[in-house]
Amino acid sequence: MIRVNVSCSASYDILIENGLLSLAGELIASNFGGKRFCIITDDNVAPLYLDGLCASLDGQGVLCESFVFPHGEKHKTMQTVEQILAFLAEKRYTRSDMLIALGGGIVGDVTGFAAAIYQRGIGFLQIPTTVLAAVDSSVGGKTGVNLGGLKNQVGAFWQPSMVICDPQVFKTLPEKEYASGMAEVIKYAAICKAELAERIKDGEDVSQIIAECVSIKRDIVQRDERDTGERQLLNLGHTFGHAVEKATDNRFTHGQAVAIGTVMAFSAAESLGLCKKGEVERVKELCALYGLPIESGCSHAELLAAMQSDKKRVGGKITLALPRSFGDTVLYKTDMSALSDILKKAIGS
Ligand code: GLY
Repeated sequence: MIRVNVSCSASYDILIENGLLSLAGELIASNFGGKRFCIITDDNVAPLYLDGLCASLDGQGVLCESFVFPHGEKHKTMQTVEQILAFLAEKRYTRSDMLIALGGGIVGDVTGFAAAIYQRGIGFLQIPTTVLAAVDSSVGGKTGVNLGGLKNQVGAFWQPSMVICDPQVFKTLPEKEYASGMAEVIKYAAICKAELAERIKDGEDVSQIIAECVSIKRDIVQRDERDTGERQLLNLGHTFGHAVEKATDNRFTHGQAVAIGTVMAFSAAESLGLCKKGEVERVKELCALYGLPIESGCSHAELLAAMQSDKKRVGGKITLALPRSFGDTVLYKTDMSALSDILKKAIGS
């Protein structure tokens, strides 16, 4: 089993091994025995893994119940969080009990946020069932929901107490979902680990790839948990990607939008003279390996309008993560007034 320890405001392990889901009951009983658990999941994941997880917990005498909400970005809302909180209150969960997020990024973010605010904070575990959640969103404690069409507008930093990652579950992912997770892996390679791109191409085992990605994220989160500096590097492809998601009303998955956003970041950086020429082709080639899209079809005006509401804007400025080369990304602070021009460079218009 691979174990990556994160030590920030909380200390916790990320455990990675094929078949780990069937051992979840044992792991949870031995680390968090005596507690009562509420598994939160969505209606895509529940039919696949909920019964198995309940049986694994039951087998160890661990008390658990479950709450299932409809899948999709449109349910990443305060309303879903309120329903979870009402369920926990009705079932008399207390601060010494715990939640388990069983699912992808949306389930993890919603569950983490409910955990952060229920009775001023209860513990939670992450069991990611998508590559995207495994390599990114289940680690680092960013939790939250969308509000009024604005992405992750409400939330909290609330670290999980453990991340249990079973790469075998990714076998049931639709191809598009698997590829979406690989967009985040490409992002890590582009930020600071160019050799990871070669390892992906060589078909390295997904457990090792996940361990590498979460170790990169762990190191960054340990230095900047509250996202005031270096952690913003992890937004490579996300600032443009979120604009694509907003402008297209989520026509693309989050990972697909990140792939498009990463290509845009490289195009902009090359045009600005920040990044050496030709690197964007490396990103496009990696995206092609997984059938990831590289352009959104959105106009400059549509993307600019979407970016105006980005929560990363501070005063009249926004910080973008832009590459100097593939594997070397830096933070680039710019005036909102310059954004229109940068966006033109990003989409080559
Ligand atoms: N997903 C980017 C971060 O956790 O900072």
